[in-house]
Amino acid sequence: MKHRQHAQHSIRCTCPWDSLTVWVDGSVSHCGRSIPLGELRTVDFETFWNSVELQRVRGMFRHDALVQSGCMPTCNVLMALYPDRYVPNQIETAAMAPVPDTAIRLERTKHRPSYMLLQLSDFCSLGCPMCCYGAGDDLKAKLAKSKVLPNEVFDHLLPVWPGIRTLELLGGELFDLPWDGHPLRRLFTDLKNHAHPSLDVKVVTNGKNLDERWCRFLLDHAFVGCVSFSIDSAHPEIYPTIRRRGNLARTLENLERLASMRQTHYRPEIHVTSLLGNHTAPTLLHLAETARRLGADRLDIQPMNPMGDPRFHYDNNIFQPRFVPELVALWKDLTTLDFHSNRADILVMIEAFVGFLGMSDEVVAQDSSLPQFGQYRGDLTLGPIARRNEVVQSFVAKRTTLRRARLQFATYARTNTKPIDLMIETGTSERLLRVRIDPRELVDNAWHDVELPNTKLQLGREYRVRLASRRSGGNDCVTMRGATSETTQVRVGRRKLAASIAMMLF
Ligand SMILES: C[S@@+](CC[C@H](N)C(=O)[O-])C[C@H]1O[C@@H](n2cnc3c(N)ncnc32)[C@H](O)[C@@H]1O
Ligand code: SF4
Ligand code: SF4
Repeated sequence: MKHRQHAQHSIRCTCPWDSLTVWVDGSVSHCGRSIPLGELRTVDFETFWNSVELQRVRGMFRHDALVQSGCMPTCNVLMALYPDRYVPNQIETAAMAPVPDTAIRLERTKHRPSYMLLQLSDFCSLGCPMCCYGAGDDLKAKLAKSKVLPNEVFDHLLPVWPGIRTLELLGGELFDLPWDGHPLRRLFTDLKNHAHPSLDVKVVTNGKNLDERWCRFLLDHAFVGCVSFSIDSAHPEIYPTIRRRGNLARTLENLERLASMRQTHYRPEIHVTSLLGNHTAPTLLHLAETARRLGADRLDIQPMNPMGDPRFHYDNNIFQPRFVPELVALWKDLTTLDFHSNRADILVMIEAFVGFLGMSDEVVAQDSSLPQFGQYRGDLTLGPIARRNEVVQSFVAKRTTLRRARLQFATYARTNTKPIDLMIETGTSERLLRVRIDPRELVDNAWHDVELPNTKLQLGREYRVRLASRRSGGNDCVTMRGATSETTQVRVGRRKLAASIAMMLF
């Protein structure tokens, strides 16, 4: 999913202008998390894309009336973007006064989708309890009832391909279907003939039947940019309780084979996904370690939507008030997860949920292994830290002590030599401590732990972290990683930026 930055700095989902989701029966929508608004069996794409239904959705988006337009309030894009408004599992918080019909502007758009989610088949031989494709034990009957994307829909998609830059393929389980007549083969032929040269395809699979022939097929198509293995947990006792009729050993072998068959290390990227819940949270670090060992590039943690068996969802949906201890354990684990992942999104959701319950200050005050300040994203560089150019970030004490900081630096993959000072000051610039960081120990874009002399803080009082390096300059200096922020400012030299450095304070 993509988002665009508006002039007034609010970040909005742009799906109604640039995304398309097509289900196996041909039903179609701008997003996989909102209700279908049309169908592409009998209707061509252009007619759907500027239909009154989709114009109305765009009109509601202009008023920020996303839930009224059919978005799921449990959409994790909403939860990550607006943590104060969309709290996990608290649908009522998303309610707002409906926008009247007369205020909704209908107009045609010249934009066309660049992102597509496509379901080629709804058959799956596994029986995952959280998934709507897992129900049914009689696999022959299930196969007989299953569908593949009809040829008319493939035909209606031909004019769409040139604009698509990212295509994500969902199931069912694609690699459960026989090779002969497989819908992926028709799709890839269409893509070879019609797609944009920079198309990136992501294939999502449980991995059980991704054998050598399929691996070769995927590797033979340069537009396959990512293969994502949904494993959830690599723990031998947990895996079979989720991926019923799955085969963990074979799945991991298939992942390792694909990783070893890649000509270069980076294409296609190999991701591992874990559906987040009580059942998987305690084994996330183990899954990340397993993924790293086998050659995967990234872990995606996916909050669980209410699908499949409702009892399973109730027992395992971790975003419930009775599971605060489990969330706190996960929070701690995620602060130590250094494998490439979307953990920042999940940490934002956990902090928003615990905050919504009014328990943040209490749990942080009680547990010194939770960060009292945490900003986990590092998409910006803030700096350089050189000569008089210092980087300063304030924080509010949530505990009476400060012992450790984790920070992310950009070293530009070179060896920098001049020491960096990390100082903690009160809001009135009284210095409480100074420690030296040796830049030769820093790894580019990785978290770096700094042990601090035990320092007393006053609860609720504002303090500053100051990073300085008078002797640095030119090509011998570092910057901080960070992210834009609506709530905090970073001072870089004389400039004040609406941002926050990537930092955890314990
Ligand atoms: C429906 S599966 C289809 C592809 C393939 N069979 C697989 O498991 O990856 C696509 C993705 O949806 C995820 N999924 C299943 N149940 C879900 C739920 N209740 N909430 C969110 N995602 C879910 C799966 O873990 C998988 O990553
Ligand atoms: S459900 Fe979420 S991702 Fe989908 S259109 Fe709405 S906000 Fe965007
Ligand atoms: S393997 Fe994928 S499609 Fe099949 S039941 Fe599990 S999550 Fe659903």
